[in-house]
Amino acid sequence: MLVDFRPHTRLRGAQPVDLVKSVVPVVEALGEGAVDLAKVRVVSDWVQYRENFREVVDLRPILHSAPAGGAVPVPMGVREDDLEVAVDVRRSHDVPLKEVTAALLRSEPDRVLLESWGRGSESVVWDFNALYWSALELWEKATGRGYEQALPGGESDARNRAAARELVDGLFAVWDRLSESNALPDELYVVELGVGNGGQAKVFLDVFAERDREHGRGYYRRLHYLMCDYSQHVLDLARETVADHIAHVSSFALDATRPRTSLGFLQYKVFLVYVSNVYDNLPTDEVAHLGGRTYCVQTRAYLAQADAAELAEAAGASTQDLPGLVHKLLRLGPALLPEAAPAHFPDVESAVAFWQRAWSALRLEERYVPLLGLDTYTLAPGLGGELLRPLVESGADIRMHVNNGALASFVDSLMLLHPFGRLVCHDLFVTDIEGYRTHFRGPGKYDGSVVNWVNGPLLAHVGRRRGFEVHYERFRHRSGGNIVTMTAQVRD
Ligand SMILES: C[S@@+](CC[C@H](N)C(=O)[O-])C[C@H]1O[C@@H](n2cnc3c(N)ncnc32)[C@H](O)[C@@H]1O
Repeated sequence: MLVDFRPHTRLRGAQPVDLVKSVVPVVEALGEGAVDLAKVRVVSDWVQYRENFREVVDLRPILHSAPAGGAVPVPMGVREDDLEVAVDVRRSHDVPLKEVTAALLRSEPDRVLLESWGRGSESVVWDFNALYWSALELWEKATGRGYEQALPGGESDARNRAAARELVDGLFAVWDRLSESNALPDELYVVELGVGNGGQAKVFLDVFAERDREHGRGYYRRLHYLMCDYSQHVLDLARETVADHIAHVSSFALDATRPRTSLGFLQYKVFLVYVSNVYDNLPTDEVAHLGGRTYCVQTRAYLAQADAAELAEAAGASTQDLPGLVHKLLRLGPALLPEAAPAHFPDVESAVAFWQRAWSALRLEERYVPLLGLDTYTLAPGLGGELLRPLVESGADIRMHVNNGALASFVDSLMLLHPFGRLVCHDLFVTDIEGYRTHFRGPGKYDGSVVNWVNGPLLAHVGRRRGFEVHYERFRHRSGGNIVTMTAQVRD
């Protein structure tokens, strides 16, 4: 048996985790159960997100072959476990851990499944995420809170004026140099992906106009700021926020994972691609290297029976109706749901309440499925799984995010950059692979959206293979906080 206690920093401090109380009851339950103890892993995490997709104890089967057939070659000398028992030690002291674990080992709990097993990036949670941004107004009206209050620090760092000033001054320095050699294009393009309420755009544009007045080279007159988002509602909000600069702003409804579908005409012309708190909100898989074998983490969304019963009762439905109603909600949104299912939702408010309760109750089952080989796995269009090798095979067991959506967005955005352009991204980055061995990195829930930390070493590896220098630095303009700034630009 392998016991992996990952949040070791929690063993010290004012209220240290009691290692014995948080691990031994689980081991005792396993000892009294029927599982082969030689093939079990016990993994303890500190799940820092109050709203998340996990129970205090979860069982994760470790498959020996892919369910869709196809023998998976087993490398020599690997340890083939059958089961992982995952414990959230932040909450485990509140539950009878041994009884909870024993009950799970005895029989599968009753659950209402919302989907079949699949890669994390394909889960229904991403439909919930997209719905949150498209129907944000209704969600915020019901909660009385803006989305920014759920972000780290309660507001986006992209609204920090000192950071915007530094960015603008950097652009001006590049433009001055190009201008001196008559190489500065007439049109100066800046693209922002994932604009939210437009606060980031407004600060950038305000600072830009102010610095331009002082600088006196007329760059503001030539500026084109392109706000991009997949939510029309968000784009409309952002347009209002930047009303003072509207002559310099255009909006594009596009998927941030494929910016060139709409912005192809800007290939090699953009001086700044500006992204903040978006990569951590894009679909991702997780992969793991356990005992010498590589696995894809498959997930399946469900509602626990007790939550499902309550939800069904509130909607005047049976628990069997729930998957259909949830999928109808995701397809139509809460504003149209009352028309499509009037017997269950008399008005928009009841549809929003259903949405919020379903989201809050939603959990993810997980299992490990062996990968045939890294070359059979695609990270993002044009990016083969072999790119993962130096990271997943970096020593002891590891589980990490692939951030497929962020990778796709990153690589596609690099193609937009002018040779002297930069991509600047403020986000939750894991900057050292070791960070995956000690901390839980998601998924968590921020209000109605999903958050996963971003695999910095993987993005850097991919960027460098494409000739870009990728640099990470803790966000400098606020003390504390976890935000890191990534900068990518063509290597000299
Ligand atoms: C957390 S907000 C960040 C807003 C702003 N950048 C900030 O820092 O305050 C995430 C934004 O990304 C957008 N977004 C998420 N996934 C997207 C996708 N696949 N394509 C385009 N926009 C997306 C959301 O609609 C939302 O506006």
